[in-house]
Amino acid sequence: MKFTGTKNYVATDDLMLAVNAAATLKRPLLVKGEPGTGKTMLAEEVAESLNMPLLQWHIKSTTKAQQGLYEYDAVSRLRDSQLSALDGGERVKNIHNYIVKGVLWQAFPSDQPVALLIDEIDKADIEFPNDLLREIDRMEFYVYETRELIRAKHRPLVFITSNNEKELPDAFLRRCFFHYIKFPDADTMRAIVGVHFPGLKKELLGAALKNFYEVRNLPGLKKKPSTSELLDWLKLLVAEDIPLEALQSKDEKVAVPPLVGALLKNEQDVSLFEKLVFMQRHNR
Ligand SMILES: Nc1ncnc2c1ncn2[C@@H]1O[C@H](COP(=O)(O)OP(=O)(O)OP(=O)(O)O)[C@@H](O)[C@H]1O
Ligand SMILES: [Mg+2]
Repeated sequence: MKFTGTKNYVATDDLMLAVNAAATLKRPLLVKGEPGTGKTMLAEEVAESLNMPLLQWHIKSTTKAQQGLYEYDAVSRLRDSQLSALDGGERVKNIHNYIVKGVLWQAFPSDQPVALLIDEIDKADIEFPNDLLREIDRMEFYVYETRELIRAKHRPLVFITSNNEKELPDAFLRRCFFHYIKFPDADTMRAIVGVHFPGLKKELLGAALKNFYEVRNLPGLKKKPSTSELLDWLKLLVAEDIPLEALQSKDEKVAVPPLVGALLKNEQDVSLFEKLVFMQRHNR
C-alpha cells in the first residue's frame, strides 16, 4: 500500500516519500507547515486513498491526553444511582455503561487498519504530547476502572499536525517521522489550483498567481496568504467575473489586486502593501 496522491490532493514527491516512510517505520507522521498548506487534508486523503477509515481528534487548548483514551463519567453514575430505585439499578452496577471511549480506544480494537489524525497538537498544553508517549509507542493502555488492557489489533497510521505554536518535547519527537510541508512553488500551486478549478483560463491563472506571489513575497507581512487563501480569492475572482485586465497593470508595476481582503487579513498588511504600490508609482 503506497500513497501516491489523489485526484483531489496534490502531493509532492517528498511528501509522498514521508507518508510512506512513516507507514514503513510504523511511526506517526508529524506534519508541520504554514496554516492552509494541506496538513489536515493530507490525513483525510491518505486514509481515503488507502481505503482506511479515518478517526479524527481535533485538539483544543483544554484537551487532555486522557480524553483520547477514555473518560469515566462518575457524575452520571452518581445521578443514576440516586434514581436507581426505578429500574433496580441494573445500569449502575455495570461500570462499562459509564466509560466513554476516546478516539484511541475506538481505533485500537478495529479489525481493519485505521488512520488516526491528531490535529493541531500544538494547541494543547505542554504535558499533552508527553502524556501520550506510551500509547503511541506501545499502542496500548490500561483502564484502571475496569482493569482492562486495551491493545491495538493493528497499529493505526497516525498523522499529527502542528502549526508550531509550541515546541514539542524531544521524547515525543523521537517517536515520530517528521515532514515540513514547504509552501508550494508556482508549478505545484498551478497543479493544486487545477484540482479545485479545472476549467480556469490559463491567462487568468497566470495573472492571479503573479499577483498572489507579489503579495506573498512582500517583506514584513504579518500574515502571509497561503494556499487556502489563494483558492478563496480565485473563487471570488471567478464568481465576480473579474476581467483579466483588472489583474494586470499596464506598466508592469505592482497594483493592489481586487478583493485583496481574501489574501491579506489585517490592516497593517493592507496598508504596507498600499504603501509599496504608492512608492512604486511615484518612483518612476
Ligand atoms: N496539496 C493540496 N492539494 C489540494 N488542495 C490543497 C492542497 N493544499 C491545500 N489545499 C487546499 O487548502 C485547504 C486548506 O487545507 P488544510 O485545511 O488541510 O490546511 P491545514 O494545513 O490543515 O491548515 P491549518 O493549519 O490552518 O489547519 C484545503 O481545503 C484544500 O482545499
Ligand atoms: Mg488543519
